[in-house]
Amino acid sequence: MNIVIALLLAYLLGSIPSGLWIGKLIFHKDLHEHGSGNTGATNTFRTLGVTAGMVVFIIDLLKGTLAVMLPMSFLFDIKGISPLIFGLLAVLGHTISIFDKFKGGKAVATSGGVILGYQPTFLLFLLIVFVIILILFSMISLSSISAAFAAIFGIAVFPAFHFILNNYNWFFSLIICIMSAVILVKHRSNMNRIRDHQESLVPFGFN
Ligand code: G3P
Repeated sequence: MNIVIALLLAYLLGSIPSGLWIGKLIFHKDLHEHGSGNTGATNTFRTLGVTAGMVVFIIDLLKGTLAVMLPMSFLFDIKGISPLIFGLLAVLGHTISIFDKFKGGKAVATSGGVILGYQPTFLLFLLIVFVIILILFSMISLSSISAAFAAIFGIAVFPAFHFILNNYNWFFSLIICIMSAVILVKHRSNMNRIRDHQESLVPFGFN
């Protein structure tokens, strides 16, 4: 397959606004107008319930995983370009979606999907950080922010990971840093709410 078409497909795959479409088509609710206004899995859980939240989480995760894995598969067999580029494009599609007036989610589930497809051991480390912070503070946003910082720390600073990760490479580090930066930038409003003790706690709701 032509590489340019494949890159475009990765962006379009990431652009699929699962939460927005499920909200509008099935629940007749626009997620932009409810809860945090975000179209990701967290606000779907909060606004549309557990089942819808799970479905959106799985779709958003798979967008990242498929974007990384499909180019390497026999279906596409694309060589000479890192699969991580496709993963990153899916993350950018998720956050700057052509189907949502170039708005979108906060990149957590789709970035997780990219790491799942490329380096699942590293995802396990991030998941542990995520769950510990969630148990301690009951805030999905703080867990996401902490996992993003842990990813940068883990991949860029902590040399022990270089031995644990069997296909570690500098490009993976770079992509991790970019995805973490996107997550942190997209969580600015959450950081303000956390500072003001206004952030939504799980079980969901705003204080
Ligand atoms: O994955 C997004 C989550 O960290 C925060 O979502 O809706 O609480 O802003 P939300």
